[in-house]
Amino acid sequence: MNDKRYGHFDDQHREYVITDPKTPWPWINYLGNEDFFSLISNTAGGYSFYKDAKFRRITRYRYNNVPMDNGGRYFYINDNGNIWNPGWKPCKTPLDFYECRHGMSYTRITGRKNGIEASVLFFVPLNTFAEVQKLTLTNQSNETKKLKLFSFEEWCLWNAATDMENFQRNFSTGEVEIEGSTIYHKTEYRERRNHYAFYHVNAEIQGFDTDRETFVGLYNEFANPDAVVEGKPRNSHAHGWSPIASHYIEVELKAGESKDFIFLLGYVENEQDKKFVAPQVINKEKAHAIIEKLNTTEKVDKAFAELGEYWDALLNIYKVNTGNDKLDRMVNIWNQYQCMVTFNFSRSASFFESGVGRGMGFRDSNQDLVGFVHQIPPRARQRIIDIASTQFPDGGCYHQYQPLTKRGNNDIGGGFNDDPCWLIFGTVAYIKETGDFSILDEMVPFDNQPGSEVTLFEHLKVSMDHVIKNLDPHQLPLIGRADWNDCLNLNCFSWDPNESFQTTENKSEGSKAESLMIAGLFVVTAKQYVELCQKIGKEEEANRMQKAIDAMVTAVKKDGWDGEWYLRAYDFFGNKIGSNECEEAKIFIESQGWCTMAQIGAEDGMVAKSLDSCKKYLECEHGMVLNNPAFSKYIYEYGEISSYPEGYKENAGIFCHNNPWVIIGETLAGRGNDAWNHYAKILPSYVEEKYQTLHKVEPYVNCQMVAGKDAAKPGEGKNSWLTGTAAWMWLTVSQYILGIKPQYDGLQIDPCLPTTAKEYTVQRKFRDAEYNITIKNPEGKEHGVSQIVLDGSVIEGNTIPYSAGKHTVEVVM
Ligand code: BGC
Repeated sequence: MNDKRYGHFDDQHREYVITDPKTPWPWINYLGNEDFFSLISNTAGGYSFYKDAKFRRITRYRYNNVPMDNGGRYFYINDNGNIWNPGWKPCKTPLDFYECRHGMSYTRITGRKNGIEASVLFFVPLNTFAEVQKLTLTNQSNETKKLKLFSFEEWCLWNAATDMENFQRNFSTGEVEIEGSTIYHKTEYRERRNHYAFYHVNAEIQGFDTDRETFVGLYNEFANPDAVVEGKPRNSHAHGWSPIASHYIEVELKAGESKDFIFLLGYVENEQDKKFVAPQVINKEKAHAIIEKLNTTEKVDKAFAELGEYWDALLNIYKVNTGNDKLDRMVNIWNQYQCMVTFNFSRSASFFESGVGRGMGFRDSNQDLVGFVHQIPPRARQRIIDIASTQFPDGGCYHQYQPLTKRGNNDIGGGFNDDPCWLIFGTVAYIKETGDFSILDEMVPFDNQPGSEVTLFEHLKVSMDHVIKNLDPHQLPLIGRADWNDCLNLNCFSWDPNESFQTTENKSEGSKAESLMIAGLFVVTAKQYVELCQKIGKEEEANRMQKAIDAMVTAVKKDGWDGEWYLRAYDFFGNKIGSNECEEAKIFIESQGWCTMAQIGAEDGMVAKSLDSCKKYLECEHGMVLNNPAFSKYIYEYGEISSYPEGYKENAGIFCHNNPWVIIGETLAGRGNDAWNHYAKILPSYVEEKYQTLHKVEPYVNCQMVAGKDAAKPGEGKNSWLTGTAAWMWLTVSQYILGIKPQYDGLQIDPCLPTTAKEYTVQRKFRDAEYNITIKNPEGKEHGVSQIVLDGSVIEGNTIPYSAGKHTVEVVM
């Protein structure tokens, strides 16, 4: 089945080009790299925020609205009564031409109507707290055109959560100031806030509006604002109600003429004693400085070029050439881009995450940074310290923290017993990439309490100990509230729909609920920990942990194996979960992934059997489902997992995040064909080619979940962008399939390929070195390097010892 197409890749420009605005779901992009961020859909919907999507929301957005994707930065063009937007929405006037190009931290939307072209470039310049909207209007007709141009942004009253509920207050707080062509939003600035936002255009304006009801009309919509329809601004001044910002500009364009307008949506913070220049008059100095930096086409073009160079540098760190465009574009462009986005946003703000729900996850952020660490290691380093600072002295951790305050989130608390292991996973990845062992000596507090600081290494130690000290009946790890699968809530026991599955423990005293996923995760990360201890001369600690690993392996072999696959867990009462003995959900993916990655029982054939069972029972056309058969009813003992209808989310959905675990298991078993088949099934570019309508969500990035075989529409995607899938897909392809693995002392070359792969090259910048690697596979092997030639000499083994400078590496499988 090949269904309708809405766009295509443009690899040369690193863009996805959308040619029909009515995509099956809004297809979005992210702007901004460090502080000021925006989400933008293919019709210019979305919003901006500073650092924290909950506490510093700059513009308003209505989630789950009708119509979908309501609110954004809109330009209305009134051409003699004919009103349209370059991005088609909100007027939805049919366009003569429409195109949206989503690129690396920028989006360009172009519309044409009746001889006028309007093209808008959206981006956030590096180190700037502002979104640039460069609008280029071109008259492609043979006559002079007189246009009325209206811009539009709607301010959010900062706290995105209270903004949508506390109307008795909100309708009386809104305040703005207008100065020339700049509209300032200063709600709550009179009291505790030290920040304001502004919307500016670098042209003289012939009018403005700042009050929504005056501009739109109480009974109108964004599609037909009164002022635009009438072609007349009201020059309204918002007091309370809903402040907006709209510029009105009369534009005359001769035949063939083109004009640029630079709009800026900016954010400013002032020191407490410098907030005002006169009573009620805000200090605009910093806003003026941002405007001054970006008030001409030349300055904006230069800033845009710098953004392009920034991405060139990031994407030059790992570059593959296999000759397979579908693979190369994901590895070289989109997978790495998505890793940066997930690193920045964790699970906070997307078109499926409202920005008010979750902060940064402990386990999520540790995984995200593994996909990102090669790009900007110092940011990953800081993230590790931030995450570790939310740990408790016993090694347990806050499950989430808020990015603005960096404090653990009390609403959700801790008790997710896999969390501590992930700190090892993230830290080791950082040190292997950078060789920077000094991070282990950083003094890091517990729960952000001053005075509680110990070294980061000590945090790693208590992380491991947390697992070892929480083993029970079968000497397997107790699960706590849940492990990686937030929805396997074995101590919850809830019949009350008002209770949160994830934070409720109606019964946990004396629980025998154990997790095989944590057992596997522990073995993998404890092996990393042992290697690290040996590397830094902590032999005794290494030996101690090796014993714990051996004990865990023994426990898994004894009580964690079901005959054809690894069990998933034991429930509160000590009954098996994920066993052939169970009525439903006989097999789960997570324990297969982690125990095969840990290679538990490989010598007894357990790994191979487990991988075969995944193929037999979990694999379907669109990837591997999480469990099989799906739960057909709610199971009180299991919690949220069984709350989902069959085929969705954690109940037998294809939860893409965990597919790579099995794929890595396949590569460690040397099964390159199987690894590749699983990988290609969830690789966006392969899906893009086949299923644009069915898949529904953006075809250039992974989504968290694809509906499984038991769902109404198998293959339908949901929850795009913010998912650990990005980092795991990256780890899988860069290190395990293409086989370039950072190690403490160098780069290990260990590919695991489909037999059809005959040759490829990888350029890898690694610390102060650059390796140009050619891998030849003349015999079509799946695994095993037979020779490596480094700068002309054959080396022993398969690890290239690190040394600065440029190197040529020739590898034969
Ligand atoms: C969460 C992860 C969790 C996964 C599986 C995601 O939504 O962000 O922390 O591991 O779901 O339940």
